[in-house]
Amino acid sequence: MEPIILVGSGGHARACIDIIEQQGHFSIVGLVGIPHEVGTSVLGYPVLGTDADLPGLRQKSPNALVTVGHIKTPAPRIRLFESLAKMGFCLPTILSPRAYVSRHASVGKGTIVMHGALVNAAASVGHNCILNTHAVVEHDVVIADHCHVSTTTVINSGAQVGAGTFIGSNSSLRELVKVGKNCLIGMGQRVLSDVEDGSRILNR
Ligand SMILES: CC(C)(COP(=O)(O)OP(=O)(O)OC[C@H]1O[C@@H](n2cnc3c(N)ncnc32)[C@H](O)[C@@H]1OP(=O)(O)O)[C@@H](O)C(=O)NCCC(=O)NCCS
Repeated sequence: MEPIILVGSGGHARACIDIIEQQGHFSIVGLVGIPHEVGTSVLGYPVLGTDADLPGLRQKSPNALVTVGHIKTPAPRIRLFESLAKMGFCLPTILSPRAYVSRHASVGKGTIVMHGALVNAAASVGHNCILNTHAVVEHDVVIADHCHVSTTTVINSGAQVGAGTFIGSNSSLRELVKVGKNCLIGMGQRVLSDVEDGSRILNR
């Protein structure tokens, strides 16, 4: 197994650990967290340091995954992904053994496809995305970099999602709709028409 370091020590990191353990391709060397987490452990793995220690941790593992979550802003995940790439870390794609990714689909670097998620034929998912538990990405969908498609969300065929967008749990996008960059779609939303860059969608 190859070593991997997880960057972020919160709830999303715990879900990522479960997937990496089940996948069995990487051994988790430890995590990176905020200063007061250093020295603690997460599901038995040590928090080795903070972001400032990453250049040194590169000696322990050439691989890293951003395990900070994303709801209101993609900024921390983008900053970490870009700085890890600059430091020369490899950012592998992590696929749960319980996910299905069509061999005709593409999934970018540093993206995690979580348990029960499905990526159908001719779909394209960018770098540093989270496809969360039971997310459905249908055929011909395009999801740009740094997006989070939350638990049980359905992105129907040919829809497009711009970079940095969050789509809340149990939402659905109509086929062929275009959602812009840096949008926040709340949980339980039905998106029936195009959404402009930077929109916040919370229909009641
Ligand atoms: C969109 C969201 C981030 C807003 O959070 P927030 O900025 O803290 O906003 P608040 O909770 O203060 O809610 C503001 C108002 O919008 C309403 N609202 C919040 N989320 C809503 C939603 N998804 N649908 C409809 N209305 C919503 C609230 O009821 C509140 O209404 P009020 O002003 O009449 O009291 C949050 O509600 C949400 O949907 N989170 C996503 C959860 C999720 O999918 N997690 C992913 C796990 S994988």
